[in-house]
Amino acid sequence: MQVSGADRIGELVGGWIIDLFSDRPDATIGLANGSSPAPVYAHLVEAHRTGRLSMARARAVLLDEYLGLPAGHPRTYRAEIARALLDHVDLAPGALLAPDPSAPDPDAECERFERTLDAIGGIDLQLLGIGADGHIGFNEPGSPLDSRTRVVELHPITRRDNARFFDQPDEVPTRAITQGIATILSAHRIVVIATGPAKASAVARAIEGSVDPALPASALQHHPAVTWVLDTAAAAQLSPRA
Ligand code: GLP
Repeated sequence: MQVSGADRIGELVGGWIIDLFSDRPDATIGLANGSSPAPVYAHLVEAHRTGRLSMARARAVLLDEYLGLPAGHPRTYRAEIARALLDHVDLAPGALLAPDPSAPDPDAECERFERTLDAIGGIDLQLLGIGADGHIGFNEPGSPLDSRTRVVELHPITRRDNARFFDQPDEVPTRAITQGIATILSAHRIVVIATGPAKASAVARAIEGSVDPALPASALQHHPAVTWVLDTAAAAQLSPRA
């Protein structure tokens, strides 16, 4: 599906999420950070303000989190998602499930997070962006397709791409906790948002190329319910429709 403009993407995907919570108020949504889903969160905040969305009985799950930032740092993904969405809706305290980057044993924290996801029966709708190198979450090229939540090293391209959110490029953490590719694929439904020309190559390879750990987003071909929401620039390298 091709749409134009951030507002249209926000309205479209936001509408699906509003419908989900209207049908099933206790559903679980998987939240991604980055600029791609931002219009969706803006739409949800407005929908809540105008009485069209309640998340009071919902759960939200974070896709990934930096390691190494001090607790409460404004660039932690927990802080980012709070500013973009959660501070402005009625999600109950404690209803955000996220890897804790300050846990003394990050590997044990990843296992705890996986057990929590299992216990709640998985994620109903997972929002995703895609990195210019084809990463999803922080699953960089070469990530095993059967990977679960774990500690990862960030690729230099990812650190460079995300430097725009930090005062100095060297402030971007070198490690993160991310849901694994198999963890992401266990969501019941996945919506991937990509905008702009920098994503065009990765989008085309993910959708039309072979499934290959070198392009982690290609693993989404294995999921039965994935919707790609692309602007014209991000869709530019897809084959023309017959
Ligand atoms: C980060 C996040 C990804 C996100 C990617 C793209 O690396 N960990 O989950 O998809 O950035 O971000 P953007 O949407 O800002 O291009």
